[in-house]
Amino acid sequence: MKQSILVMNVFGKEVIHLSIVDSTNNFAATLVSDKLCQNGTAILADSQSNGKGQRGNLWHSEPGKNLLLSFIYKPDNLSVLRQNELTWITSVCLIKTLGKFNIKGQIKWPNDIFVKGKKIAGILIENQIIGEFISTSIIGIGLNVNQENFGVFNATSIRNELNQELSKELVFNAFCEQMNLFFEWNKIEPDSVRKSYESLLFQKNETCLYEDQHGQFEGIIVGVKSNGFLMVRVENEMREYGIKEIRYFSK
Ligand code: BTN
Repeated sequence: MKQSILVMNVFGKEVIHLSIVDSTNNFAATLVSDKLCQNGTAILADSQSNGKGQRGNLWHSEPGKNLLLSFIYKPDNLSVLRQNELTWITSVCLIKTLGKFNIKGQIKWPNDIFVKGKKIAGILIENQIIGEFISTSIIGIGLNVNQENFGVFNATSIRNELNQELSKELVFNAFCEQMNLFFEWNKIEPDSVRKSYESLLFQKNETCLYEDQHGQFEGIIVGVKSNGFLMVRVENEMREYGIKEIRYFSK
């Protein structure tokens, strides 16, 4: 007998589509502060005038071409100590979404999505915390769908990988489906999420060149710890790196 899986339709149940906004993450934060949103609301924009990237960078995206999206997620008793899991799940869902279109993605630690060594998507998660718990998480995603030219950026898009344009709506629906499958991730064994994420790491088990505060070295990425630190084997030593403590060099 086939087992049916009950999928909670939370992510994307409510969709707010804007033609232009400063940042979908900022718009989502305003909705949260005005208490004008449901759990799982998606804010989509055709273009952003001040799209935010990691580490204070701007997120550039050709108007109308790509998925610019923020989900408002209100977890049920998710401890701040488990905030890495939000990044892990979102990354894994992006890879699974790309897989639906026959594109093999990998995760460049901690949260860049790569295809054949080029960035196809980025994630910016901004959490609001009350006490020890995450009250609201704004999960921002920029996924390159139909953009062809990226200038100096080492980036790609679904269009460039498939040699054909794809409907952004199709990609959005596929991504919501993946996120909804994981919706009850509080109930998922945290280690299974970590292992899924780990198995998709870019350059995992390969000897590659990296740089830390002491200089360049050859190392092998072997996984991530439950606190999110990257584990890199350098000869017989196991090193652990936090964000900004290690830099990748292209091969
Ligand atoms: C990165 O630097 O890799 C993260 C990029 C995240 C960009 C997305 S686009 C939609 C959402 N709104 C923002 O202002 N940023 C995120």
